[in-house]
Amino acid sequence: MQVTKTVKETRDIVKEWKREGLTVGLVPTMGFLHEGHASLIKRAREENDRVAVSVFVNPTQFGPNEDLEAYPRDFERDSALCEGIGADLIFHPEPEDMYDNPCAYVSIEKLSDNLCGKTRPVHFRGVCTVVSKLFNIVTPDRAYFGQKDAQQLAIIKKMVKDLNFDIEIIGCPIVREEDGLAKSSRNTYLNAEERKAALCLSRSVAKGQEIIKNGMKAEKLLGEMTEVINAEPLAKIDYVSVVDALTMEPVEKIDRPVLVAMAVYIGKTRLIDNFSWEPAEQ
Ligand code: PAF
Repeated sequence: MQVTKTVKETRDIVKEWKREGLTVGLVPTMGFLHEGHASLIKRAREENDRVAVSVFVNPTQFGPNEDLEAYPRDFERDSALCEGIGADLIFHPEPEDMYDNPCAYVSIEKLSDNLCGKTRPVHFRGVCTVVSKLFNIVTPDRAYFGQKDAQQLAIIKKMVKDLNFDIEIIGCPIVREEDGLAKSSRNTYLNAEERKAALCLSRSVAKGQEIIKNGMKAEKLLGEMTEVINAEPLAKIDYVSVVDALTMEPVEKIDRPVLVAMAVYIGKTRLIDNFSWEPAEQ
């Protein structure tokens, strides 16, 4: 496995792969890898001749009062995990190599208005910008993203379509701890009491999956899911919403493919979870 720090080194390696006619899968990450990331890398390994993983805590997707400095980092561990799964390349740039007084950004309208976009106004512009840059640097055939960040996945799919990137975007299922908590690098912020409290998210998801049905009012579904979270004293809801799976706009009635998503503070840690649902074919 090779590790690159610069855009040029990365391009040279990928150009050589392409000259040999090999396909390339990219797994973009911010590092501190867990089994969720491992599942993306494994899938990329199965479907491509070469696998590149980017490890870059992207400053432009963090708001001024968010956790950019505190975001967990452990490159040695990440590197061992990638090597163990059989990744061929890790691209691990410094912020200065990725951003030199930038004036150009990629932003997405409408799909970023709700859910996480509402409380994190610069977030998706930062994500779309860095993902576009990674696509231009690595020129992958396929790129892999987790469904835990469901709004991010929908936004990247739309960006790829709108901007004609010749890249297949593959969404992979949420990976959970045994007790149901969705795996996240931010779970490391939780103390023991908060870790227990955090289970209210997956409990709320399970409740939603149990009761959702065609024709149901979104308000009814959200009421029951919210009740599960509000029963936990350490939890403070940012949002619990039902949106159209493609447009990310809120729906009143559940009668089409939807994303049911939530962001909840457990103490100071903001966690997300979700599930997707679609009506059974008639
Ligand atoms: O999902 C993430 O870890 C990040 O948002 C991504 C896609 C790597 C962009 O920085």
